[in-house]
Amino acid sequence: MAVQWYPGHMNKARRIIKESMSEVDLVIEVMDARIPFSSENPMVAELRQHRPCIKILNKSDLADPAITRLWLAHLEKEQGVKAQALSVLDKSKTRNLPALCKKLLPERGSAIKPIRVMIMGIPNVGKSTLINTLAGKTLAKVGDEPAVTKEVSPAQHRIILEGGIALSDTPGILWPKIENGNSSYRLAVTGAIKNTAIDFEDIALFAADYLITAYPEKVVERYKLQQCPATDIQLLEAIGRKRGCLRAGGMIDLQRVSEILIHEIRGGALGHLSFETPEIIERELVVV
Ligand code: G4P
Repeated sequence: MAVQWYPGHMNKARRIIKESMSEVDLVIEVMDARIPFSSENPMVAELRQHRPCIKILNKSDLADPAITRLWLAHLEKEQGVKAQALSVLDKSKTRNLPALCKKLLPERGSAIKPIRVMIMGIPNVGKSTLINTLAGKTLAKVGDEPAVTKEVSPAQHRIILEGGIALSDTPGILWPKIENGNSSYRLAVTGAIKNTAIDFEDIALFAADYLITAYPEKVVERYKLQQCPATDIQLLEAIGRKRGCLRAGGMIDLQRVSEILIHEIRGGALGHLSFETPEIIERELVVV
């Protein structure tokens, strides 16, 4: 599947963040709680070096809470990492982040010696929303397209938060993990890769195949089916019949069904869904 990230963009993003790092004490990496592996950028460990890192599993309001707990434990195995599940819907938990930064860097966090924090992550994981929530006002642009990087250094402008935190008002934008085929699909299913770069039928088949194995009861409930179909295409056809997505001659309009399924997954209509577990990723990495 085509993803609009090119070597030029990647190098530029990496260079800009690397140059900013000398003025950063702590990194907050934002990931999508539904796909923590696929929405993580492997470059962060190299870029942050010894600096502590808070990994935010954002959009946890859409993810499967049991799987999010597995990921939190898994991510904290990395040296210097504290993992935290968040959702923009829960502003009070978000505003506790400065206290967590202070816990990780107790020697800083005063007006004279603030903790200089930079938020990083791939597009559409919620970086801008998080900055705006922490700042208490709208600063950062919400909704960057995946192919966009910025020339400005993320450490150039800072917002002073309560508790001695100096937060860069521009996030460090990194590229998504595109070397793993399944990750590209998961990024598309959850909306991190925007609609211009995806083939709805292709990703709906991927999503349907996963749902019938991982969440058959949610599928049955949402689409009021007698039982969960056995294959991806049978599930799309069953949804198509229920939703009246028919073409002339009674054929199922797969494009329409696919768009319905993907939009409903992204909007949380099927309930809390996660699209990868630490165990699934471990298996896939062995196969690759
Ligand atoms: P970015 O800076 O990392 O690129 O992400 P941004 O904050 O722009 O957020 C991308 C989309 O994700 C926004 O929706 C935003 O409202 C949504 N979002 C961010 N955090 C959360 C969260 O915790 N839970 C949920 N459910 N949504 C969250 P949008 O502007 O409508 O964009 P889109 O949905 O059309 O992609």
